[in-house]
Amino acid sequence: MSTVQNEPEKVPDGIKPGQEHTVSIEKLTFGGAGLARIDGQTVFVPGAIPGQTVQICITKNKGRYLESRLVKVIKRAMEEIQPRCEHFHDCGGCTWQNLPYDKQIDYKEQIIRETLEHLTPVDEELRKQLGGRVLKIIPSPQVFHYRNKLEMSFGYETMRAQERNGKRIYLDENPTIGFHQPGNWETVLPVSECHLYDEQIGLLLQDVKRFMQETNLPVYNPKTHKGMLRSLLLRRGVQTGEQMIAFVVKARKKELEPLFQHFMRFGGRSGLASLMVIENHGQGERPEQPKVHTLVGQPSIKERLFDLEFEISPFSFFQTNTLGAEKLYQAIATAADLSQSDIVLDAYCGMGTIGQYLARYCDKVVGIESHPTAIEDALKSAGKNRIANITFYKGRTEQVLSNQVKAGGKYKFSVIVVDPPRAGLHPKAREAMLAHAPEKIVYVSCNMATCARDMGDFLKAGYELRSVQPVDLFPHTAHIETVSVLQKK
Ligand SMILES: C[S@@+](CC[C@H](N)C(=O)[O-])C[C@H]1O[C@@H](n2cnc3c(N)ncnc32)[C@H](O)[C@@H]1O
Repeated sequence: MSTVQNEPEKVPDGIKPGQEHTVSIEKLTFGGAGLARIDGQTVFVPGAIPGQTVQICITKNKGRYLESRLVKVIKRAMEEIQPRCEHFHDCGGCTWQNLPYDKQIDYKEQIIRETLEHLTPVDEELRKQLGGRVLKIIPSPQVFHYRNKLEMSFGYETMRAQERNGKRIYLDENPTIGFHQPGNWETVLPVSECHLYDEQIGLLLQDVKRFMQETNLPVYNPKTHKGMLRSLLLRRGVQTGEQMIAFVVKARKKELEPLFQHFMRFGGRSGLASLMVIENHGQGERPEQPKVHTLVGQPSIKERLFDLEFEISPFSFFQTNTLGAEKLYQAIATAADLSQSDIVLDAYCGMGTIGQYLARYCDKVVGIESHPTAIEDALKSAGKNRIANITFYKGRTEQVLSNQVKAGGKYKFSVIVVDPPRAGLHPKAREAMLAHAPEKIVYVSCNMATCARDMGDFLKAGYELRSVQPVDLFPHTAHIETVSVLQKK
């Protein structure tokens, strides 16, 4: 019985997991890996870029393709450049810092085209036409230091375990702050530099590092669940200069007061609009029901997009590239091409940023969002921005929309804008959207694979794909944002 689980997957003759091969990388693929071929069979090589000749080790045979690990680069690519960051090869945050930016975005555009042509579940003739709808990618206004948010973990660089009297004892070694490398939730890679986040955030981080050394407060160990400091969240309103520091800690009530005294040393920083301590007693990195203690200012900071102001709470979704978000929202407005009579649904609306921007171009906007603090932020900002023609519903899009359909449909949406998380739309959400039969669907996506899957339903139900606008919000990574327009035929 147990051998079944451990048996290697069936591999074609000659190509086996564990074997090393030398291959040339042809192109980049969805998710960021390079693509090469061995005897005509596709092999994915994470960390490799086109033009490189690399030595790889086969890790898995998935039937139609092979997976591999990069062993070493044998020949550099002509277009390869020196990455800026010393952690590029270890940290896992950046995928393509060794490619010039103009090449990165050309590849991103190509990946969107190919993903649409391969993954949209419609007949082949239509599928092959879809790539032709992809527009020229809009680059990020900033290529480095574009992130307005930094999330780091307190932890240990190494964590050895020893058996003592039949018990497993974890030896905490080198408390530090940094990132978990992909697939490793135990130890933390300390980073001395990161070229993606805002430079002011970098200065704040230096302060936190000094604070760690001086106070020597115990760092949380995810194995034993002992220790206090768990994670750090830094946010900056790029257009307002307001800064947020949030320490996520595991501390009992009686430990909190002395802890607050320590954290208050950050209170005097200029621009600091929010200093918080957030309790997390759970197993996960993100507190499920965060208990927030605001030591300085408000439990939020302000950021501006265009002429609109938003209050950002620590765990509410807000686009991490502020200047890039303005490009994205302009692309959404162009795609929606609204008239003053339109009634617009902004589903998965977060703090209502898209809806509040579109409200000026239409009769009415309805936002739906499931995260409770995001919806509070949405209501607050819509009030402050004096937008009278917007309403918000708290709940899951699939439920709120289906309930509306059952109740006979209070709103007759002419345009539906959706901006779901990476998993895409719930089947019930797609069903309810079709029941509302809008003239136009504007699908904002951070994952073209799920977007292509979802668009299949709309294409089969009488919509045609007018355009797909890629927007780069995440230079040096493989993430790509897109705005697709589907029009009722
Ligand atoms: C990619 S974010 C987009 C937020 C917003 N449109 C923006 O541009 O800032 C997705 C949002 O969907 C919310 N969400 C996740 N699942 C949801 C669901 N089933 N129904 C409604 N909102 C959901 C998340 O809390 C998050 O705020």
